[in-house]
Amino acid sequence: MSKILFAASEAHPLIKTGGLADVSGSLPAALKRLRQAVRLVIPAYPQAKQRAGDLKPVGSIRLPGSTQVMTVLEGRMPGSGVIVWLLDYPPAFGREGNPYVGPDGRDWPDNAERFALFCRGVVAIAQDRAGLDWRADVVHCNDWQTGLVPALLSLETVRPATVFTIHNLSYQGIFPAETFVRLGLPHELWHYRGLEFFNHLSFIKGGLVYADRLSTVSPTYAREIQTPEFGYGLDGLLRHRAEALRGILNGIDLQEWDPAHDPHIPCHYDAEHLTAKRGNKRALQEELGLPASDQLLLGSVGRLVEQKGVDLVIACIDRLLELPLQLAVVGSGDPAFEQALQEAAERHPHKMSLRLGYDEGLAHRVEAGADAFLMPSRFEPCGLNQLYSLRYGTPPIVHAVGGLADTVVDASPEALKEKRATGFCFYYASPEVLFHSVERALALYEKPALWEQLARTGMAQVFDWRSSARQYLQLYEEAQAAARQTGAGLAHPPA
Ligand code: ADP
Ligand code: GLC
Repeated sequence: MSKILFAASEAHPLIKTGGLADVSGSLPAALKRLRQAVRLVIPAYPQAKQRAGDLKPVGSIRLPGSTQVMTVLEGRMPGSGVIVWLLDYPPAFGREGNPYVGPDGRDWPDNAERFALFCRGVVAIAQDRAGLDWRADVVHCNDWQTGLVPALLSLETVRPATVFTIHNLSYQGIFPAETFVRLGLPHELWHYRGLEFFNHLSFIKGGLVYADRLSTVSPTYAREIQTPEFGYGLDGLLRHRAEALRGILNGIDLQEWDPAHDPHIPCHYDAEHLTAKRGNKRALQEELGLPASDQLLLGSVGRLVEQKGVDLVIACIDRLLELPLQLAVVGSGDPAFEQALQEAAERHPHKMSLRLGYDEGLAHRVEAGADAFLMPSRFEPCGLNQLYSLRYGTPPIVHAVGGLADTVVDASPEALKEKRATGFCFYYASPEVLFHSVERALALYEKPALWEQLARTGMAQVFDWRSSARQYLQLYEEAQAAARQTGAGLAHPPA
């Protein structure tokens, strides 16, 4: 049994902006089920404090240059019972709304300070300097907000092993060089093989350079990020660290995303009772103000940003809506994309519905009520929505990159014949190619027996957390072995 400290900037159901929260909610729970002593640590945002229920102060952390201390609030994750530590420091985290951006949609101007503080808090806990009488064997960090943790720990003589998971390489936490000085970071970390990136401070490099082991959330994305096309300037470093890098596919929470018991949807169903899915389609059409049509209802849920290929959809939306289909979009993000979609919905009120904003329940109802799910991402480290749609018998139409390539089997004649097909893949990100794959989906939708087979095959796929958690355990062991080799004194040396 290892003491694992899992650090992230969001965790479902306490606070969520995207898939990272799903992972931070589920993976520690799966590790707990494998009898690991896992603790989750996130910042104490107001919403997280509220949703965590009973919290008690259990420790405190002194911060360099501040008179105020950071309090460690302990609670249990709703559902899984995983022990969670919320790092309470109101000047940095006591803000309502989104953890990363203000009401104007722009990054909080002090994000470097906020997440540097979070990292210092995580280091203090890992090193048993927070009064918790608990010392980590492994610290598992996620995305740039936790990047300084492996860097700071690398300077300690006795330290835990570190693992850094890349959920999205395009968000790197890059700040002007002066920030490095302002944050009072140790000068040993400022060099091109350290936190410096083209004369800027890079939080993510703290993870990529200093963690004992690296991972990302699908095998294909692990390969892609080592190429200039997907590497965002870090492909060289990632090739250099290829030996330490693994691709471990995310799982999904099989209880929360289960069409047979989902409390958010009106009609429950499973693979044997697929006709009941129709009730969800009707209800969704009604909820969204779309006519009760039998045409293929195409759903889409997600952040409206370039990563998700929203521009590809917008570029062909009028042609798309001339096809015999309806389109239901739920999401929020880039104001320009929001506006373009809004205008399209106004031009085609009987064919398209747009719900701007974040709505957990509606996300479930779209997965259940749509006939097919559109996810044309330009890049996708793993992607969870296509996994949800597979489970809900809603075949995904995807650009075959990253986790989408690893989880969806294209409905080629051969794969259909062999009953392996689960969705529609396209291999080049352009509006024409996307349009063509929607046409392919429509052609198959005309053949109900084949369509049902496609949906059922998708529903039979198992993307559970148990096998992914086992792979992480293996990675933690490798990280501990690697840390020993670097001469780091480990907190709990193996007997
Ligand atoms: P990413 O993390 O890149 O945003 P994922 O597919 O991994 O993409 O995960 C997105 C998660 O966020 C899913 O659980 C999805 O249902 C949820 N989600 C995204 N946007 C919305 C929204 N507007 N309303 C409700 N849920 C959303
Ligand atoms: C990121 C990625 C997404 C992935 C999620 C959880 O937000 O964009 O592909 O599923 O993290 O790992």
